[in-house]
Amino acid sequence: MNIAVIGVGYVGLVTGVCLAEIGHKVICQDSDEEKIRVLKEARIPIYEPHLEKLVVRNKNKGRLSFTANLQDAVTNAIAVFICVGTPPLENGEADLSAIEAVTRKIARFSSSYKLIVEKSTVPVQTGLWVERTMNIHRSKNIDFDVASNPEFLREGQAVCDFPHPDRIVIGVQNEKAENLLREIYEPIINCNFNCPIHSGNSCSENELVPLIVTDINSAELIKHASNSFLAMKISFINAIADICEMTGANVRDVAHGIGLDKRIGRDFLRAGIGFGGFCLPKDIQSFIKITKRLGYDFKLLREVEKINEQRIVKVIEKLKRKLSTLKGKTIGLLGLSFKPDTDDIRFSPALKIAQFLLKQGAIVKGYDPEAMGKAEKEFTEVLYCKNAYQTAEKTEALIICTEWEEFKNLDWKQIKSLMIYPFIVDGRNMLIKEQMIKVGFEYVGIGI
Ligand code: UGA
Repeated sequence: MNIAVIGVGYVGLVTGVCLAEIGHKVICQDSDEEKIRVLKEARIPIYEPHLEKLVVRNKNKGRLSFTANLQDAVTNAIAVFICVGTPPLENGEADLSAIEAVTRKIARFSSSYKLIVEKSTVPVQTGLWVERTMNIHRSKNIDFDVASNPEFLREGQAVCDFPHPDRIVIGVQNEKAENLLREIYEPIINCNFNCPIHSGNSCSENELVPLIVTDINSAELIKHASNSFLAMKISFINAIADICEMTGANVRDVAHGIGLDKRIGRDFLRAGIGFGGFCLPKDIQSFIKITKRLGYDFKLLREVEKINEQRIVKVIEKLKRKLSTLKGKTIGLLGLSFKPDTDDIRFSPALKIAQFLLKQGAIVKGYDPEAMGKAEKEFTEVLYCKNAYQTAEKTEALIICTEWEEFKNLDWKQIKSLMIYPFIVDGRNMLIKEQMIKVGFEYVGIGI
């Protein structure tokens, strides 16, 4: 099917590339001409494992192209996926101006039937707004449908998540829209594609995928409720971690013990310095705002948010307990991205810690395997280092902010010898406490 994807951020680019990979003819559009220029050269403007390989392959097969011109993208497309950003406004609500602007243009440039698919994370009832905007701005004889198709992929694992989702959710108003979306996702639903990561039949994740068909409002709510629930799980285990510290219990064991109950599940029970990224923090904020506008005070989610904010304070307290004042002391941060396998630093707990430390007069060194470029641009006061060893040099404490694989295999003896004082705050419980103590570190984890 001819598909247009509007917006080549994380979600848009992965969606476009993966839809091409499963056999569709996809044109991706973005108003950022520099991004499009890079993509036309088959390079990618973000770090996402496996993505570049797929861009090259699908470009070469003639199934994937890029343009900065929205009219070019829309003209031949039957389905138009809207994947533009919905960043938070100052009051926490999602900024929907990009969605509205794009919808107007789609309406203006459409000269044949279009299925407009919202993929960006949007507040409930945005679909109705898109429909209204289309009705106002389209040529009267042009037919269209609106659908919601929320995305659940995780940064860093996106190319694996897209073809192997736990479920596909589509919110539609009629059978025509449902059938088109069924056709688009048929290869994934029936597992009728070659896994882009694991070749041939060796992919253990290949299985039939449930398709959930709902109305548009329910599909939009499924996305909000999913992200909120995940955030709630993280804040819950972080609260338990604090109680573990008060009682001498170990949060790893507690998480294991409760996670084996299938009704609870083992995922998203890793205690640490809290959730970051461009999705969970902003989605919760906007969900709280939407529900408030609807007349419901979502106290539970406000608490989830509060617990998350407190994670940073807790880390600073751990440092102060050991080092007393932080003024003039050099602290190293290992990991700057909000989680491993991404260069994304948006709402990263690591950078919140950096800001906190700088405010207290500390000297902050930092290193990340992939996020250095982005971090250097945004936070100029941090002293950026070439690797973990240089970061450790002359520090009085190291904080592990992101559990990158590369940090697990460091020569910790050497790290210790480089530090002024061998104190480690393991903000992700990545290391084995006993081993670190054996090497000679004073080690503090989260709830262990
Ligand atoms: C999240 C959701 O997991 C995706 O399903 C969703 O599609 C996406 O948001 C989105 O709305 O676009 P993502 O933000 O990529 O995905 O990252 P997660 O893997 O959810 O991690 C979010 C944060 O929670 C990270 O900072 C991570 O370190 C933290 N986390 C995660 C924990 O602190 N503990 C855990 O047990 C799990």
